Amino acid sequence: MALTRFLTGITTSGTPHLGNYVGSIRPSVAASLRPEVESFYFLADYHALIKIDQPERINRSTLEIAASWLACGLNPNNVVFYRQSDIPEIPELTWLLTCVTAKGVLNRAHAYKASVDKNLATGIDPDTNINAGLFMYPVLMAADILMFNAHKVPVGRDQIQHLEMARDIAYAFNHRYGEHFVPPREVIDEQVATLPGLDGRKMSKSYDNTIPLFSSRDQLRKLIFGIVTDSKAPGQAKSTANCALFQIYQAFSSPAESDAFAREFEQGIAWSQAKETVFQKLDQELTPLRERYQALMSDPGQIEALLVQGAQKARAIATPFTAKLRHVVGLRSLSTAITATPTAPNTSAALAQFKQYRETDGQFYFKLVDPSGKTLLQSQGLTTGREAGQLIQRLRTEGAAALHALAEQLQRIDDVQDDAVIAALTALVQSKAD
Ligand code: TRP
Repeated sequence: MALTRFLTGITTSGTPHLGNYVGSIRPSVAASLRPEVESFYFLADYHALIKIDQPERINRSTLEIAASWLACGLNPNNVVFYRQSDIPEIPELTWLLTCVTAKGVLNRAHAYKASVDKNLATGIDPDTNINAGLFMYPVLMAADILMFNAHKVPVGRDQIQHLEMARDIAYAFNHRYGEHFVPPREVIDEQVATLPGLDGRKMSKSYDNTIPLFSSRDQLRKLIFGIVTDSKAPGQAKSTANCALFQIYQAFSSPAESDAFAREFEQGIAWSQAKETVFQKLDQELTPLRERYQALMSDPGQIEALLVQGAQKARAIATPFTAKLRHVVGLRSLSTAITATPTAPNTSAALAQFKQYRETDGQFYFKLVDPSGKTLLQSQGLTTGREAGQLIQRLRTEGAAALHALAEQLQRIDDVQDDAVIAALTALVQSKAD
């Protein structure tokens, strides 16, 4: 089965609120459970540095966001869940991409341009208080995505331009150096509601109208009772159109439940009663999550360990891929320059080889054997020789990057180190590139 690779980052600059839960965390956790999907979720803490210069806040937000995702059911065995700053290959790739990115394109990035325009409007120097991180934001984001050759990137509408830029950067690099990057596509989920906040505008930290995802029960109740409504008295029919309270209820209910609630509106339910209903509904969904969240927050070491493991999985892809990209752009060992001449392709006697065979069980197998004859990698039984051929092809072209996706089709070999497999595959991919 061909897996689709999904990847998304969450900037570690705040405390998750109900809008983040409905708009991002809940649908992403659900998507991660689909068998045809391979998910990469990461904490974008390098991105957070662009906006925040308070170290404790970055650290706290990273912990809160990681705990929130885990509390909401993200299973780190199912997905690659990691912290961006644990992957030093990301800033390295950022530089390689920076050098194929037109500065003029970055000048037009919405967030940067908005800051410049604001300065211009007040008549001050256009670059006042703008750091170069804001300018480079789209390239760092492209590196996040291209490093793992993600096919699909679930994001909010405000990120569409960043995805366009990531695609352009992928094309620009591929054009110069060959097909190394998959141009990614954004996924904008039309089903997912934009949750209104306390004042009826979109729930957002910048409007200061949020309900924290993990407020205490009492706090949750208080905040829900503070949602702005009109002044219709009990018994008067109420409209569900543009009603923040109703929309919040809807985001947590089945269509049948929402219909029933709408009828209560028509029948003139008192606002206090409607708010109590909404509170009960939300609290029912959030209570088990809140309990898990509190348990996780009381054991940050456990979260740290999970992120370190996630980084290992991510780097099993990022390290060899970056090595390949360094080679591709010409950042190479000088000893290879001496031995390999451009006209004589590297015949590298010391490469591992794939061997295909059929067992008495009638199934097809392949293995990767190093030059000394030692088996480095071995497939599970496959029903057709064609399937075996396709898997080999994928390992040959993608190298170690394909290992994670193909985990189910491969067997573990006890005394073989991951590093040996990664090195052998990387050498094979490079030998093709040479
Ligand atoms: N820019 C994204 C946001 O603000 C966060 C982000 C950083 C991201 N890197 C990413 C999202 C890579 C998707 C893919 O929401």
